[in-house]
Amino acid sequence: MGTKAAIVTGGSKGIGAAIAERLVRQGTAVMITARKREPLERTAERLRALGGGEVAFQVGHAGSPEDAEACMAATMSAFGSVDILVNNAATSPYHGPVIEVDIPRLDKTIEVNLRGPLLWSQAAWRAHMGRHGGSILNISSIGGQAYTSDNGVYAMTKAGLDFLTRFLAVELAPTVRVNAIAPGLVATEMAEALWNGPNVRVPPMGRVGTPEDIAAAAVYLLGDEAGWVTGQVLDVDGGALICDFERYRRRPKPAVPLPAPEAGA
Ligand SMILES: NC(=O)c1ccc[n+]([C@@H]2O[C@H](COP(=O)([O-])OP(=O)(O)OC[C@H]3O[C@@H](n4cnc5c(N)ncnc54)[C@H](OP(=O)(O)O)[C@@H]3O)[C@@H](O)[C@H]2O)c1
Repeated sequence: MGTKAAIVTGGSKGIGAAIAERLVRQGTAVMITARKREPLERTAERLRALGGGEVAFQVGHAGSPEDAEACMAATMSAFGSVDILVNNAATSPYHGPVIEVDIPRLDKTIEVNLRGPLLWSQAAWRAHMGRHGGSILNISSIGGQAYTSDNGVYAMTKAGLDFLTRFLAVELAPTVRVNAIAPGLVATEMAEALWNGPNVRVPPMGRVGTPEDIAAAAVYLLGDEAGWVTGQVLDVDGGALICDFERYRRRPKPAVPLPAPEAGA
């Protein structure tokens, strides 16, 4: 087989850029995509200087079916295949109790974090993978597996993404493998409020994660070494998920008061 080609959504920064870098270093041709052109241009230039696989970029919104189709077409025209899709772009515009979320921010979170990965997977399947095979990786979050105060809307989209991963893995097997990584706290722009302050919650491994920690797991799941691995959600979190009982005790009071117990009950 010739050179493989990958699409990485949200590939201009953070975890997406680190995954793109690992893929380029191993000779994969990579299309990075995000909403803003300048960061894409800068990252593409930096990745090209590595002298590995070819690099292209395409401006696009992860929630848009038209942008997904356009990115597939651009990748097919630039590289001749779409063998790898990394659904990495996500958003978290609302923080607060789920019961109080407004519809615009609820819809936006679902659009980018859950509907987007499905639409991009459909587009990749139609453009190339359905006939020639491939590997899809969804970037989820350990937030989708346990309670964290004020993070429920984001968390429920990530829990949905974990289930989407399992369903697609069965539906697309044996042609395409579909896996997910659930990162813990990683030092990127998106999570800056959580790691760049005095109250940072350091996991058992003694430090917050780096984008490279996630990228190392990503190239394993995407590559031939993981040829019999599908439908898995791999937690890459420095041990955070297995020990963080304190989060549940810090839950906020319900916004809707509970009924008073009946007399004598
Ligand atoms: N950092 C953490 O602690 C952490 C923990 C668990 C899970 N994750 C997950 O890891 C993934 C990457 O996060 P990150 O921390 O690397 O974030 P980041 O550094 O903020 O980068 C986000 C990337 O996604 C792009 N993006 C954002 N919204 C987009 C949209 N609607 N359409 C297309 N591209 C969009 C951004 O570029 P533009 O703004 O130009 O579009 C950027 O390239 C996400 O799925 C996130 O949920 C992160």
